[in-house]
Amino acid sequence: MIPLKRRKVVPSGAGNTGNTGSEESSPNKFPQVILFLLERKMGASRRAFLSQLGRKKGLQVEEMFSERVTHVICENISGDEVVAWLESGVGGRGRSSAHLLDVSWFTESMRAGRPVEVLDRHRLQQQMREAEVVGFSAPSYACQRRTTLDNHNAILTDALSLLAENAELSGEDGRGVAFRRATAVLKGLPEPVTAVTQLVGLPCLGGHSLRVVKEVLESGASSEVEATKQSERFKALKVLTAIFGVGVKTAERWMREGIHDLQQLRDSGRTLDRSQRAGLQHYDDLNQPVTRPEADAVAAIVEEALAAVLPGATTTLIGGFRRGKLTGHDVDFLLTHPEEGREVGLMTKVVSWLETQGFLLYQKTTRNSYLEAEDGPARPSSNMDRFDRCLSIFKLPVEVKGEGLNPWRAVRVDLVVSPISQFAFALLGWTGSKLFERELRRWAGHEKAMSLSSHALYDKTQSRYLRASSEEEIFAYLGLEYIPPSERNA
Ligand code: CTP
Ligand code: MN
Ligand code: MN
Repeated sequence: MIPLKRRKVVPSGAGNTGNTGSEESSPNKFPQVILFLLERKMGASRRAFLSQLGRKKGLQVEEMFSERVTHVICENISGDEVVAWLESGVGGRGRSSAHLLDVSWFTESMRAGRPVEVLDRHRLQQQMREAEVVGFSAPSYACQRRTTLDNHNAILTDALSLLAENAELSGEDGRGVAFRRATAVLKGLPEPVTAVTQLVGLPCLGGHSLRVVKEVLESGASSEVEATKQSERFKALKVLTAIFGVGVKTAERWMREGIHDLQQLRDSGRTLDRSQRAGLQHYDDLNQPVTRPEADAVAAIVEEALAAVLPGATTTLIGGFRRGKLTGHDVDFLLTHPEEGREVGLMTKVVSWLETQGFLLYQKTTRNSYLEAEDGPARPSSNMDRFDRCLSIFKLPVEVKGEGLNPWRAVRVDLVVSPISQFAFALLGWTGSKLFERELRRWAGHEKAMSLSSHALYDKTQSRYLRASSEEEIFAYLGLEYIPPSERNA
């Protein structure tokens, strides 16, 4: 019996390489070709064997994937999977323009004793489509992207929106914005995400968001999202803040006092302010989404009011409906008059007309206090705008569908009046989405040294206001491509 240590070691299946003697390997015979053999699906031992074989033929075979690699050799694996693996950065950073090849290219090359020409039949099937399938990219500000209502990743964005909502309900606004930004990036993708590796390199997707996405992709749901939905605290905060006039602070105070739902609130005898009383009274109506036909019906009433109190004044649908949404939590209108100054006092007149006609269940009007000279956008402290503004609840006549039903329903309506000189800024500022607006202001401040509000655009470098009579002009000042309302659904 031959002692173990003297036994000749022959690589399994390597009996016919024909290599003998001194020539262990001949490196760099083909300097144009740098191979990498993907271990995934191929297996470690087969990979080691093939690598050794390749080196013996004078090919350079790398242990690690890198930008230098020109040919990636794969076995039993789809092109998509390979691309995803490469994108993930595992085993080396970044994508090269390497050929993604089936092992058949390698075996043919071994037979030929040289790297053979890459033919289509060698390429992994998905490689032709890889640009569409993977490698999503997007600029980092939402106002640089076109986000339609056509969301291909609703399962993912629903999950992240819920986490955003939970953060906002917990007073963690920073986290809320981070989740909103992540949500917006996914909303803008042209296709459904199939693997988290496709998202490598996208902006605004932090570790937390990526973990949630991965879990949803792999198991259909996120444990954190499910736990949040079930949490008593989240449920109570949602129910209470869904009352018009109730914010997070009030809801939290009530919860500390043992109030977690509407019945407990009613039973508590808690003193409610005027808005909260209206909110509680019309709770169900106000939490039923407003439809587009209902929005149009409100618009007709507002137009009637304008015709009665100030002929020539105009109303423009703003907010979500201007972006093309089919439903909304309210209806928003921007009122103005083509002659500067004629809009002064308009809100009071409109509101009293609506009141007289019995269209208002509730209204709270706030007066304009915006004065450009002393109070202008050079002071970016507040992004609340200060037009005449009316938060209201309309008593909207509806078709009676049966006996005993109310012939009307309560609908939240926001009215804003702007002078014509600020109309473009008001239009841009009130069309939303909220994240799109936030991103516009962030872009203006951080990238352009400008300050944008719903009143004006101030150029800090030139120390002057920039006039505009259209949204297009404002985008142009900001150095942004014009994004129409239907593509501001970030
Ligand atoms: N807005 C504002 N200041 C507020 C409230 C709202 O400038 N205090 C702006 C928002 O930035 C948004 C627009 O008004 O651009 C509409 O807000 P809102 O009605 O809350 O949202 P929508 O996008 O219309 O969504 P929904 O359909 O749910 O009403
Ligand atoms: Mn709205
Ligand atoms: Mn609104």
